[in-house]
Amino acid sequence: MLSEAANKAQNIDQARKKIEELSRSIEHHRFLYYVLDNAEISDAEFDKLFKELDRLEKEYPDLALPNSPTKTVGAPPSTEFKQVKHRVPMLSLANAMNVDELEKWGERLQRSLKELDLDEQVSFVCELKIDGLSIALTYKNGDFVEGATRGNGEVGEDVTNNLKTIKSLPTKLKPVEVNGKQLVPQLVEVRGEVYFPISSFTALNKALEDEGEPTFANPRNAGSGSLRQKDPRKTAKRKLGLWTYFIYITDAEFKERTKHFDNLALLEAMGFPVEPNRHHAATIGDVMQFCKDWHEKRHKLDYQTDGVVVKVNERDLWVKLGATSHSPRWAIAFKYPPEEADTIVEDIHFDVGRTGAVTPVAWLKPVHLAGTTVKRATLHNAEQIKRLDLRIGDTVVVRKAGEIIPEVLNVKVDKRPAGTEPFVYPTHCPICNTQLERIGQEVVYRCPNIYGCRAQIQRRIVHWVGRDAMDIDGVGESLIEQLVEHHLVESPADLYKLTEEQLLSLERMGKKSAQNILAAIAASKKRALANLIFALGIRHVGSSGAELLAEKFASMPNLMQSDAEEIAQIEGIGAKIAAAVVEYFTHQPNLELIEQLAAAGVSMESAETTKQSVAQTLTGKSFVLTGTLATMERSDAEKSIKSRGGKISSSVSKKTDFVVVGASPGSKLARAEELGITVIDEAAFKKLLNDEETNG
Ligand code: IVH
Repeated sequence: MLSEAANKAQNIDQARKKIEELSRSIEHHRFLYYVLDNAEISDAEFDKLFKELDRLEKEYPDLALPNSPTKTVGAPPSTEFKQVKHRVPMLSLANAMNVDELEKWGERLQRSLKELDLDEQVSFVCELKIDGLSIALTYKNGDFVEGATRGNGEVGEDVTNNLKTIKSLPTKLKPVEVNGKQLVPQLVEVRGEVYFPISSFTALNKALEDEGEPTFANPRNAGSGSLRQKDPRKTAKRKLGLWTYFIYITDAEFKERTKHFDNLALLEAMGFPVEPNRHHAATIGDVMQFCKDWHEKRHKLDYQTDGVVVKVNERDLWVKLGATSHSPRWAIAFKYPPEEADTIVEDIHFDVGRTGAVTPVAWLKPVHLAGTTVKRATLHNAEQIKRLDLRIGDTVVVRKAGEIIPEVLNVKVDKRPAGTEPFVYPTHCPICNTQLERIGQEVVYRCPNIYGCRAQIQRRIVHWVGRDAMDIDGVGESLIEQLVEHHLVESPADLYKLTEEQLLSLERMGKKSAQNILAAIAASKKRALANLIFALGIRHVGSSGAELLAEKFASMPNLMQSDAEEIAQIEGIGAKIAAAVVEYFTHQPNLELIEQLAAAGVSMESAETTKQSVAQTLTGKSFVLTGTLATMERSDAEKSIKSRGGKISSSVSKKTDFVVVGASPGSKLARAEELGITVIDEAAFKKLLNDEETNG
């Protein structure tokens, strides 16, 4: 038996090894997460490693490494960007993983305040914790001059030009009233979070999957990848969002407000976007209620949130409470449990996309996850199934990160039933039985039966009717499925040949619906050239690429006659797209399609048809939107205004004509009331759009 001293020495030795191992592992995962945008483990797994290290370091303080990851944040900045030293270090936040930990933080806080002899009443601000990338923005004399990522907290990456592509980021600050004067501070630093809207993320991943290209694991990765592009034009295409939550002003006569909650309003008054669902909480109990209320509700938002950031409202207390090297004492991040769940894979099916890419999909025993019931999860590709050694009957962990369908994270091998076999990937198309192919280095298998495979035909039509394509309302996926199944439609051109009789032969189709469908199809003949080019589904040509092509060539015949060199000269279009365009027009069925479309009367010329098809009834009217609309996306509301000639502004001024108010409006509503601007709710807004339409 070991003596007590020897036993102790052995424990210390083990702890040292474990501390080194954990420190190395945390650094490694931080590098993957922050620098490569390619995390290998979930946030929950990362937090577990971090907590374990923190616990060991507390037990054995002498063993902590001098540069322990518990004392540093983030990861070294990538060298691809100019480095920026932060004026004030960008710290991280301590986490509370459950209500108990949140309560303990509250108690600690009260104790510290007592020790400091500060018997002030403390209150809190709750903000949804956006799962994006933190950034620091610098404004000099009101102009946006520099924007940086967090990097390692001390030094970040200069992403100024990329940030300028974010529409909601003000490049000029609005003056605010100080001592009766309208002023702009000389030097302001604002901090916030850049995020990738879930709707755009879903669309991007769907487009990537359709193309058989690798998809992003979650909106955060997609956001980080987009913001840290060398070419800002690529960032611009991704339509990132921004919420700000911090302001530092160095001017003497122009200090921040003493309450954090008021500073959020100040940010808004200066033109910054601030997440509208913030809350001033009087007590920790109130904070807890907020966290509880938002547990499920947050899934309705178009951005990912992974918790609630709780901050002391009184800013003078921030200085007094101070910070550790890692995080401030006056704030904490309450984290929601990870959106992961265990379930069983009942079967594996295959989805054949528009370009023939075959994607395996796990059919799951339904499980509740992140506000929805999940029945399917993507398995990405054959490599992924092999890597996971996934078998039918396996218990798996599924994770939801804003995707249309979630993904299978890992397999619980210990729960595997006896007698299962490794999954054998099919060699033939599950729809048309053509032998699958793998092109070059691609991981994806494709069905090469482009014009004969029912699944590909169906997907091409679904793409054709889509909003950014020919925008045919009323022709949805199930109708398309029926049309293809009954051989009424085999190519997009067949849509234009449909008759009322043919439609009436379909199940549950009434005369009125059939007529509406035909009218919608006919209306699509006048779509803009860019829509038509995008609708063709040429590989690598997204809607912005289609717009560039339409702008340059102005007609389909011109585009068809161009060569790769000429196309590649367009700014924003690379050699890959140019080659794909030229190749598309070498295929006989594609040429026939265009001929048939032209014969059916589909417009082949560039004309501002879409813009002019809506009456310009809101010309000169300026709108500000605030809060969440119940029946339409903010982007659609903006589109409706713009298409009628109206203007959108991010803040309320005397020049604003209407403020449209949805649920949980921000301070814009108060501002509108203050200035006496007409405030309308969603119903009135819709009426305005429609009335103006019929009147105009
Ligand atoms: S305050 C010193 N407020 O969460 C405190 N952070 O886990 C700085 N985050 O690095 C952060 N929403 O990237 C704050 N409303 C919010 C936030 C927020 C998201 C992120 C931020 C921060 C991380 C800390």
